[in-house]
Amino acid sequence: MPETAPISAVPLKRDDIPGWFFSLDRAAFGHLLSAQSAAGVTGDILELGSYLGRSAVLLGDHLRPGERLTVCDLFDSEAGDEDNAAEMDMSYRKTLTRSAFEANYLAFHRELPEIVQAPTSVLADGRIPAGSCRFVHVDASHLYEHVAGDVSVARAALTENGLVALDDYRSEHTPGVSAAVWEAVFTGGLRPVLLTPMKFYGTWGDVAAARRVLLERDWQAEGYTVDEDTIAGVRVLRLNYRVKAPVQRSASRRLALELLPPVATKATRRMLRTLRERRAVPPVPSA
Ligand SMILES: C[S@@+](CC[C@H](N)C(=O)[O-])C[C@H]1O[C@@H](n2cnc3c(N)ncnc32)[C@H](O)[C@@H]1O
Repeated sequence: MPETAPISAVPLKRDDIPGWFFSLDRAAFGHLLSAQSAAGVTGDILELGSYLGRSAVLLGDHLRPGERLTVCDLFDSEAGDEDNAAEMDMSYRKTLTRSAFEANYLAFHRELPEIVQAPTSVLADGRIPAGSCRFVHVDASHLYEHVAGDVSVARAALTENGLVALDDYRSEHTPGVSAAVWEAVFTGGLRPVLLTPMKFYGTWGDVAAARRVLLERDWQAEGYTVDEDTIAGVRVLRLNYRVKAPVQRSASRRLALELLPPVATKATRRMLRTLRERRAVPPVPSA
């Protein structure tokens, strides 16, 4: 489900745009793109899979003079194969139109990006100049064949030390993405830099430099956890949300919740709520 419910009105803030681009990855994109700009790294930005523009709007925020954002999405066009059509029907058809994307994007930027309304496979024709992009976001089909193609497009499009972010590399419902991503690592020279719950970040270039850039920020102070793993000899950072401490419950309440069947605990909660509303008992933390 998208993070916010689909809306037809013009979004007032970026969070109003429905989509799957969550705050941790927004922070990681912002940090990596700003660091590139601060270091004088120039290049275009490419997004495969934009939906209603939630991530594209942020990518557009980071364009410097002379740089171009290209987005590629089917929007309201037909998919090229049955499986992709099924994916579109299941997740996007009811809410997605190109005009809705455009309206959302123009709520935050004066000009639209370059829009390719087609399957991402068309980008294999070289219309994105080789070595022209500093950042590529791959977030389109979840099918292995498509993602493997998208990874190749990203590789060809990226500058030597450019970065790729690959969405849904570990979700239970997207094994094809996992297969394509780790295949690129083990047989295609892609080096992991950062893993978040939603996205894999990597480069075919200087992995140590990308890592240094990430470590310049005090993520922990901002409420994230930072961990480190070594995968086939490459050190990889992991960022996640810090989980809030569980709500403390009194021993008797804990025991009641553990022992009573769910229907009974629901009824107990309802009764307590009613009593509380009548100010008969003090509030207790909700489950
Ligand atoms: C998960 S959504 C993108 C979410 C968006 N990046 C965000 O953060 O809100 C996936 C998008 O990929 C598009 N898509 C699916 N298969 C595609 C294909 N073969 N070629 C191009 N776009 C495709 C869908 O239309 C949908 O808009």
